[in-house]
Amino acid sequence: MQFDPLIEGLAARGWSVQPCFLANDLTAELAAECRRLAAGDALSPAGVGRGNAQAVHEAIRGDHILWLDEGFSPVCDRYLTLMASLRQALNQAFFLGLDEFECHFAAYPPGAFYKTHLDRFRDDDRRTVSVVLYLNPDWQPGDGGELRLHLPGLEPVDVAPVAGTLAVFLSGEVPHEVLPTATERLSLTGWFKRRATSVL
Ligand code: OGA
Ligand code: MN
Repeated sequence: MQFDPLIEGLAARGWSVQPCFLANDLTAELAAECRRLAAGDALSPAGVGRGNAQAVHEAIRGDHILWLDEGFSPVCDRYLTLMASLRQALNQAFFLGLDEFECHFAAYPPGAFYKTHLDRFRDDDRRTVSVVLYLNPDWQPGDGGELRLHLPGLEPVDVAPVAGTLAVFLSGEVPHEVLPTATERLSLTGWFKRRATSVL
């Protein structure tokens, strides 16, 4: 099955990276969409934190984002459909009860980065699996902007943000960062979320 390598990596190590995850035409169309949005000023500076406490802190993260809703465009809907299949595969493999997927386009202008963090908020632990699709067809070593996964007791793992590569990892367990990028760095970043459990 298409998702087997991702699921095996998550089960064994808590993360997995798959180059050429998407068909080239789908990757190219998503990259074009993201480039168009970034060039047209459709993205907004990303915040840090949640709800009323959210604020822009460029010393922590310098990307610009646009949350993606169903129906935004045919190519985005194709990606959302694919992510719905991945969500089902993850639920079958891990009984996670993932019932939602949220994602945003992200553009890191030259010089931007995202300091080490976990993809979970103190007051909301529904984000369970993070999934990042990279959209940079011309990325070269030296361009920077690698995703760095910090793994306890192991050397960090750096992921080149090359178009078509998909990175998945456990949102609450893998601290990670985006290294400073020298060129504009585009991606589609999402999270599979678990049903809310009541806090009593
Ligand atoms: C994030 C994030 C990683 C990446 O948006 O939370 O960590 O490689 N992104 O873009
Ligand atoms: Mn993150």
